[in-house]
Amino acid sequence: MKKSGYKADTLLTHLGRDPETFHGAVNTPVYHASTILADCLETYENPARREGKGAIFYGRFGTPTTFALEDTVAALEDGHGTVAVSSGLGAIACALLAFIEPGDHILVSDSAYLPTRKFCDGLLRRLGVETTYFDPGLGTDIARLLRPTTRLVFLESPGSLTFEMTDVPAVARVAREAGAWVLMDTTWAASLLCRPFALGVDVSIQAGTKYIVGHADAMLGLITANEAAEPKVRATARELGQCVGPDDLYLSLRGLRTLSVRLARHQETGLALARWLAGRPEVERVLHPGLPGDPGHQLWQRDFSGACGLFGIVLREPCTHAAIAAMVDGMALFGIGASWGGYESLMIASYPEKCSSATTWDSPGRTLRLHAGLEDPADLIADLEAGFDRFHKALKQAD
Ligand SMILES: Cc1ncc(COP(=O)(O)O)c(C=O)c1O
Repeated sequence: MKKSGYKADTLLTHLGRDPETFHGAVNTPVYHASTILADCLETYENPARREGKGAIFYGRFGTPTTFALEDTVAALEDGHGTVAVSSGLGAIACALLAFIEPGDHILVSDSAYLPTRKFCDGLLRRLGVETTYFDPGLGTDIARLLRPTTRLVFLESPGSLTFEMTDVPAVARVAREAGAWVLMDTTWAASLLCRPFALGVDVSIQAGTKYIVGHADAMLGLITANEAAEPKVRATARELGQCVGPDDLYLSLRGLRTLSVRLARHQETGLALARWLAGRPEVERVLHPGLPGDPGHQLWQRDFSGACGLFGIVLREPCTHAAIAAMVDGMALFGIGASWGGYESLMIASYPEKCSSATTWDSPGRTLRLHAGLEDPADLIADLEAGFDRFHKALKQAD
């Protein structure tokens, strides 16, 4: 199916499958394959056959299951092509490695996912790449941080844990004028909630582990790139031996089919919880750009078409670790766990003050990160209410 003219929901239903080729089966089959046999040495050794994207040469370079997923995501995001890799962090690492050279300087948003920072401060530093972290609120002022050696700017908006918005088109314009590539972790937008390439981004990186897989049962990274960036990303993924196992590819394709309806519900419940929490006396601030009072709300309205189910809250003082633990440990419906984007609700304590260097996280209260799952919102609110009762009891006991 050609993508032209169809809206995202139709693309999600029809792209990446071809029943005629697969005996009428609605879904693209799972190819368990490493060796792909050639009919003769001539074909095996023919480089044109190896390089063609649709040509299947060896399991690591992709099978029809891989291409079905990659092509669907590329079409959804309006990218030139998508490369599927083993995890979201694998996608971040691979995308960064695709562009850097020893001696380069890179600019990374101060609110990027913590393992992104660790990768920059670890492997990239060892490779001779210097990272400067920047305030995600800088906008065009990022110009003063650019150097002749600045190879790329890495964005994440909304930011991990703190959820502040970046003016992506402004930063991208300045970066591109200076000849730097623009990379963005778009996991929160899940391929549907923003148009990264229209915002000026060259490479959109997503932990497909979250909403695309959507059921907390597989790991996936996706790197979608424009025409200039895609060959570099694909070549680097190959050099790194990146690939995704066949069953995880299938689970990802299966998750994609319901992505839009799930996201709408995650958004609705996330906003319902966020509004309810904003009215609670224990809550100092809700960190959710979809709320009208949020400092990033206008940018979110301009650049995004919706929100996922992930957001944060800052608790008011007095607040102790024991009180937070009493609340979180006793939740009936919110699980305690890393990752997000599955059908289940999650709650963890988060520590933004430990994850920034260019900015200072100045909220005195502790922060929690919540993921609104697909449960009934009224049940989730009742669970939160009972959680706050335990929180108060624990505070009183400590007195
Ligand atoms: C914003 C963001 N990017 C990337 C990742 C990494 O994804 P993965 O766990 O698939 O490596 C995560 C994981 O939590 C994330 O929150």
